[in-house]
Amino acid sequence: MRVLVIGSGGREHALLLGLAADPGVDDLHVAPGNAGTRALATTHAVDVASADAVVALARQVAADLVVIGPEVPLVLGVADALRDAGIATFGPSAAAARIEGSKAFAKDVMAAAGVRTAHSEIVDTPAHLDAALDRFGPTWVVKDDGLAAGKGVVVSPDRAAARAHAADLLEAGHPVLLESFLDGPEVSLFCLVDGTDVVPLLPAQDHKRVGDGDQGPNTGGMGAYTPLPWLPEDMVGRIVDEVVRPVAQEMVSRGCPFSGLLYAGLAIGADGPAVVEFNCRFGDPETQAVLALLESPLGEALNATATGTLAGLEPLRWRDGAAVTVVVAAENYPGKPRTGDPITGADQAGVLHAGTTTDADGVVVSSGGRVLAVVGVGDDLARARAAAYERVDGIRLAGAHHRTDIGLAALEGRIAIP
Ligand code: GLY
Repeated sequence: MRVLVIGSGGREHALLLGLAADPGVDDLHVAPGNAGTRALATTHAVDVASADAVVALARQVAADLVVIGPEVPLVLGVADALRDAGIATFGPSAAAARIEGSKAFAKDVMAAAGVRTAHSEIVDTPAHLDAALDRFGPTWVVKDDGLAAGKGVVVSPDRAAARAHAADLLEAGHPVLLESFLDGPEVSLFCLVDGTDVVPLLPAQDHKRVGDGDQGPNTGGMGAYTPLPWLPEDMVGRIVDEVVRPVAQEMVSRGCPFSGLLYAGLAIGADGPAVVEFNCRFGDPETQAVLALLESPLGEALNATATGTLAGLEPLRWRDGAAVTVVVAAENYPGKPRTGDPITGADQAGVLHAGTTTDADGVVVSSGGRVLAVVGVGDDLARARAAAYERVDGIRLAGAHHRTDIGLAALEGRIAIP
């Protein structure tokens, strides 16, 4: 099978590694890729937000399967264009990608499907902001209604900080979603979904704040670990039955069936799982940890999803033990990152590239906020952490920062369901 992967982050590097390990995949292409994906796939410089350009590339390389990593091309309808061209595609239609692209749409689907989530209100004019804020908090949860790469969210007990963020979004012309705060530890559960068939992957936990101890602003994700030792054994089944299947069914009823990866971001409270957000694609950096434990052929699973044959897929097999991803970020991330710095140590096994490129001299340099995603695997969480941080220690990038506590609260038994 010849596979074209769309995207340029650590998630896409992880997808390519998984696909390269699948004996059924014999040729890999990536657009636009990064400095690390070059060793795995033929790189194509293509505007991945352009449906015409992606379809032309898929035809040029005679792709049997296109796997779309990021949300932007999905929301823009690149998967629709590929399917219209008769090319098997992993990733939802633009209509189904609204589950991530519009939080208001996601709320509507959840209400119709009877899925537990935070109470919410959309504010689209500054004149309504103060009265709306008074109906929430503390703690206030303020989100950009559209796509914001994880950085559009402020969760704060400080009304002034919440108000300032909402006012900034409104001034930029973005409707704001205010939500009640959901108590309980968060879980990212990725599910392969093909209409109404659902296959969950291992549950993971992201670390969204930039600093140790969950301090500082939200990011796209600073690290992740899987599986979750504190999660009750029946919880993945409950999430599938109470959240993912009803939503998948509701999307079918609305005429926009979901095909691809449905990412349920949940808070696990006293009453069970409640949805924080849905995403229409693999999460980053959780994917790097989750796929590190997958033993089944990844290409077969993605192709079964894309071709509507998930019901016939063998149960997924997972390696025992744990995996940890630690993100190495550029100076000033999640603000405007410093870029263009040479990186050493990025060629170690387990070091996935995210924001990297090669300069005119062929040197690997930073090109984004999240620069590397460093993965460690071990027989347990402690060993997986140790393996990941040993690799992080071997990396040199001027001004870089990373969290030192990925998976630590879980390891120390400090995560409890209320
Ligand atoms: N890890 C958060 C996300 O992928 O959106």
